[in-house]
Amino acid sequence: MIYLDHAATSFPKPERVFRAMDDFARTSAANPGRGGHHRATEAEAMVEDTRRLLARLFCFSKPERIVFTLNATDALNMAIKGVLKPGDHVITSVLEHNSVSRPLNRLAADGVITLTRLEVGSDHRIDPGDVARAFTPATRLVAITQVSNVTGTIQPVEAIGKIVRDKNALLLVDAAQSAGVIPITMGAACIDLLAFTGHKALLGPTGTGGLVVGERANVMPWREGGTGGDTSSPVHPGAYPHRLEGGTPNVMGLAGLREGIRLILERGVESILPCERRLLAVFQGALKDAGRFHWYGADKTISEQGGEGRVGLVTLNLPGFAPAELAAILDGQFDIAVRAGLHCAPYAHGHLGTFPDGAVRISLGWQTTEEDMKTAAAAFNEISGVA
Ligand code: ALA
Repeated sequence: MIYLDHAATSFPKPERVFRAMDDFARTSAANPGRGGHHRATEAEAMVEDTRRLLARLFCFSKPERIVFTLNATDALNMAIKGVLKPGDHVITSVLEHNSVSRPLNRLAADGVITLTRLEVGSDHRIDPGDVARAFTPATRLVAITQVSNVTGTIQPVEAIGKIVRDKNALLLVDAAQSAGVIPITMGAACIDLLAFTGHKALLGPTGTGGLVVGERANVMPWREGGTGGDTSSPVHPGAYPHRLEGGTPNVMGLAGLREGIRLILERGVESILPCERRLLAVFQGALKDAGRFHWYGADKTISEQGGEGRVGLVTLNLPGFAPAELAAILDGQFDIAVRAGLHCAPYAHGHLGTFPDGAVRISLGWQTTEEDMKTAAAAFNEISGVA
């Protein structure tokens, strides 16, 4: 099988991730912080080590302000619902995944917040000038993706971050597609809240993710309960990370995530993009008639700009084929896994003009090879009748 759906989840996980989870489950998977016996202490040490590795990855000096969540959606909901107050104004964009759009739409529909959803240009990037112009005296939060899961374009987070900082608002960044793919520096990019998932480019299992809470942000908890400490207190502790971490964490998942992050750090996160862009170019170069496809802007960035400004994710359509049909043929006849449809980002497809049927997304990952890209291109050649 050729797996080109890493933007949905990385598959398979590296062998050492599987091994770490298996070893941990058999030897140390006790309840961290709940009990003083050595297995509980080992479990706690593993959780804290994972926090420290993430702090290294995101160039963030406060590991205790990295909170583990179920996934990026959980982290985004935690951030959005934990910082916004009645009367606040929020700026977001058409590129957002439903995990950002839906909580914001709900708060707006309930009359809690007002919302500005910015359009993007033909380069699929949010214009920092548009962000500045959208500010009102009530703007409290700017919530944007760092990499669109539909277009693959990298957003100008640093430029937007400076504007948000100047205006004394908070910047929430959805790093679901960027964590583990592009270098992220919390401070230099003026990011206040960074939501990430563990199961995509960080190579961990599903059920892992987190929220990095910068020092300018204070997130109100909505999940309260046991934390293993401060037990005599009648209310949930206010200090991070336990402030936002009620209940037993996913220790087995974190044991796998820790190994995935170690692997990324060993490989060097800065080495990943050039590799993905080279593979995209191999794919495009092996297509006999790239002009037959609708590329939604990506064809020229790949062929003329070496993939500059994007990650290894490309969305396309082949006229004459519904996206779902094309994906089904790739799966059924060629054993190639891609994702078709709206990718949980309906506004992004509205922007591309591909709503409501969507498009076919090819997304690369840590194990994708040149051979995979050539085989995928050969399948596209055959389907489009130019083999
Ligand atoms: N958000 C994931 C995707 O883009 C699931 O496929």
